[in-house]
Amino acid sequence: MTSPKPRVVLGVSAGIAAYKACELLRRLTESGHDVTVVPTADALRFVGEPTWAALSGKPVSPRVWDGVAEVPHVRLGQQADLVFVAPATADLLAKAAHGLADDLLTNTLLTARCPVVFAPAMHTEMWQHPATQANVATLRARGAVVVEPASGRLTGKDTGPGRLPDPAELFEIARHVLARGAGGRDLAGRHVVVSAGGTREAIDPVRFIGNRSSGLQGYALARTAVARGARVTLVSANVALPDPAGAETVPVGSAEEMRKAVVEAAGSADAVVMAAAVADFRPADYRGSKIKKAEGAEPEPIRLVKNPDILAELGASRRPGQVIVGFAAETDDVLANGRAKLARKGCDLLVVNQVGENLTFGRPDNAATVLGADGSATEVPRGAKEALAEVVWDLVSARLEGPPSGVRQGEGR
Ligand code: CTP
Repeated sequence: MTSPKPRVVLGVSAGIAAYKACELLRRLTESGHDVTVVPTADALRFVGEPTWAALSGKPVSPRVWDGVAEVPHVRLGQQADLVFVAPATADLLAKAAHGLADDLLTNTLLTARCPVVFAPAMHTEMWQHPATQANVATLRARGAVVVEPASGRLTGKDTGPGRLPDPAELFEIARHVLARGAGGRDLAGRHVVVSAGGTREAIDPVRFIGNRSSGLQGYALARTAVARGARVTLVSANVALPDPAGAETVPVGSAEEMRKAVVEAAGSADAVVMAAAVADFRPADYRGSKIKKAEGAEPEPIRLVKNPDILAELGASRRPGQVIVGFAAETDDVLANGRAKLARKGCDLLVVNQVGENLTFGRPDNAATVLGADGSATEVPRGAKEALAEVVWDLVSARLEGPPSGVRQGEGR
């Protein structure tokens, strides 16, 4: 017997990014999902009913009055394994936050007991307006996943946060949320900070001291945290990967820049995971112009000075209840060195990798031991970097105490 296809309701509200939802729909149907598209009436001004019906292979209506005998306004939500709204306009978010139900999509949102994901798209001013942000906070506190919009060119000439993320990235979120099921949004309402990549310490305008970190593990941590419902700030140093959908990506170059961005974001974070390879040293003197080789002369030595230890600073200055996670790349005496580093840096968890030729850098998989300040050691066998990321979030989630930082007093369910 074949297992039934996961049932997805794809809600589409009236934003010009509705055309990108066609690509998300195609990816979902081609990967074996049973998708019912529920547009709002105005969404059909951007992409018409025949397109949705042809791509999903099902009739499409924004109204509760079609096919009433089947009670679609109740049935669709009750039977869904996932409701994914892309794009979600400011108006749709407001209706969802306040429980309004004047069409098929908003009725479906009220009857759904499965995971719900909103992928907002709108102008920057509308996204940043306190009314929209309050609605987003309410939805997140109730357990919905609200992905951060991407930054870039908007409908007009202006740029800023408000774009619908890439459909391929949205599909990854849908896949993750479906895989984790109804109880999977344990980071809902939480703010987490992840650092990724490798810092570059400038020698002169064209040269730097860097490292081999690809950023894959940090990006996997960001992507999985979004799917578990967290608001994610990803501080990314020199990574050649697409921004993960739903995370706010802050690009940085050097260790100093990373320190500034991480410490600022950590102020409101429930957890900080330092997956980045931060250079321990930087050139003492930055040369403003390119160093030239002088004929016949020996090269000048480059004097190094210590960089700030961001993880140790976070460990020493944490807010009560904040969980701090470090990574350690070791070549020898892996566990003993890891335990010593955990204590020295004052973190709650330390993910210890054995590194060496072809063991970690740039590979899609990883093996590690996660050491806890409580003496625990969790072995993670070699597998996808996303699998290790899920274990890290399981351990972080078990250590989080108190109400999420995103939930302010009086914000109800
Ligand atoms: N880290 C940091 N700031 C630095 C250096 C490292 O925040 N200046 C963080 C990394 O992001 C990582 C952890 O510290 O989470 C471990 O980094 P590692 O370089 O292995 O630690 P070191 O203390 O430099 O140890 P070693 O003596 O092995 O170099």
